[in-house]
Amino acid sequence: MQKILLLIAVLAASSAAAQDKAFSLQVPQALAEGGLLDYALPRFSLKTGIRITITDTAADASLGQSGTPVFRRGDVVWHFDAQGDADAASFEDWLLSDIGKRTVESFEPATGQTFSADIGKTVVAEKVELTGDVKWGEEVSLSKCGRCHVINQKNRMKAIGSTPSFALMRGFSDWLERFEAFYILKPHGAFTQVTDVTEPFPDHLPSPISPIEVTLTEIEAITAYVGSISPADLGAPLQAGRALQSP
Ligand code: HEC
Repeated sequence: MQKILLLIAVLAASSAAAQDKAFSLQVPQALAEGGLLDYALPRFSLKTGIRITITDTAADASLGQSGTPVFRRGDVVWHFDAQGDADAASFEDWLLSDIGKRTVESFEPATGQTFSADIGKTVVAEKVELTGDVKWGEEVSLSKCGRCHVINQKNRMKAIGSTPSFALMRGFSDWLERFEAFYILKPHGAFTQVTDVTEPFPDHLPSPISPIEVTLTEIEAITAYVGSISPADLGAPLQAGRALQSP
């Protein structure tokens, strides 16, 4: 059996400690090749800075028959066993959180049934602290997203009117999730590269427009900036401050 190694990016050099956060995960080949993990792991890594290396041999943790049921596909129930590893335990909590479950269920496999996370217990999501640099986030947003999205007054006349403004999207209850994963949400996949995360554009499908390249730290800064702006829809009062309840 061919060994599959998939390295998910670390939250770029934000701290030495963050880089030590990692574990290896044993996954049967069929699951590893199905695409779900390629889809879900970068989201988890982005949120936590924990890097996961996938292998089909014995590892720190495993997805298979033993441990806690985490998701299923048809009648096949997948279990996660953290084997006492603290970083793997965070991944288990994430899989059982609302965000993790939504991520699993929103994955659309190229073939076969979708996955269901309607299983096991639900862990109440922890408060998310937006730690990125707000000021830098504004600059990055203006330079990399501002040719389409209205970021704020500064590029109001330069963006594309039909594209939702950042303030409008800040009003979505799940805005944080959308911004963290914007690069897999349409239309960005076709023209966006996330350093160390996305695959290069395939040769036969080059970016149709001048591509944007962002790093995970830049995405972190963008989300911190978006967290600091007022939503366009002022209907529901929002708590001030940077600690937000994760949607
Ligand atoms: C070339 C134009 C373009 C650029 C550049 C661009 N976007 Fe977008 N983005 C769009 C369009 C168009 C939509 C609306 C898609 C829709 O309504 O389905 C969108 C939607 C979004 C959404 C909501 C997606 C969803 O499905 O909920 C987010 C979040 C987002 N963009 C973030 C960003 C960020 C962050 C950047 C910069 C790093 C960026 N975009 C750069 C065109 C762009």
